[in-house]
Amino acid sequence: MKIIKARDYVEMSRKAAHYIAAQVLLKPNSVLGLATGSTPLGTYQELIRLYHNGEVSFIQVSSFNLDEYYSLGPNHPQSYRYFMDENFFKQVDIQAENTHIPDGLSPNPDGFSADYDRQIANAGGIDLQLLGIGSNGHIAFNEPGKVFSAQTRLVDLKEHTIEDNARFFDSKDEVPRQAITMGLKSILSAKRILILACGENKADAVKAMLEGPIDPALPASILQLHPNVTLIADEKALGKLSSSNS
Ligand code: GLP
Repeated sequence: MKIIKARDYVEMSRKAAHYIAAQVLLKPNSVLGLATGSTPLGTYQELIRLYHNGEVSFIQVSSFNLDEYYSLGPNHPQSYRYFMDENFFKQVDIQAENTHIPDGLSPNPDGFSADYDRQIANAGGIDLQLLGIGSNGHIAFNEPGKVFSAQTRLVDLKEHTIEDNARFFDSKDEVPRQAITMGLKSILSAKRILILACGENKADAVKAMLEGPIDPALPASILQLHPNVTLIADEKALGKLSSSNS
């Protein structure tokens, strides 16, 4: 895994945006795998700035988001569809019909999930997958578990994740207990992966991802097996790495 160090959140976001913009400039009809959460927010803001400066266009891009809370509709302010529309899609020239996010209200999550994987395959697969990391090492909503192999599916969220994400809701009780998430198998199929991490509360997960065993108990550790992963992280998130990595 290639590690790019950033001084802070602003520098991490700028570097990540440039990395994504370069992908789109080299291949204007790129298929981007996109992520939500507080970590990529600054990256989207920087991409919007580049777009307004005329430096990049998303007109031919298609996108597939990693995940969505199960039970939240697109108008719920904490749904990932709402997040993406407000924080990125509506502010650039990406075509709404080319953006895909799991349907949090699907009455048939199994059928929906199989179809989502088919749509990704029909689009030619993901060229660049953007990821954040949960403080327990989860990616998308693939929680610590016993097996790695899974495609898009409905999952139960761990208490740890519900607590981490409660900060976005009025109370912990309002955090959905389930989500539809791309599986690790779907994520690992991306041609290139860009993972971002910022802040001290990610330092243990980053260390385990890079230096720990490849173990489904730490889902992000499977990225060690992908041939083209770049981590852009700030000094605090890299703070617990052994000297050979830092
Ligand atoms: C959620 C998302 C993940 C994200 C994680 C970390 O659980 N499903 O995709 O990586 O939160 O979020 P944050 O960037 O806010 O720390």
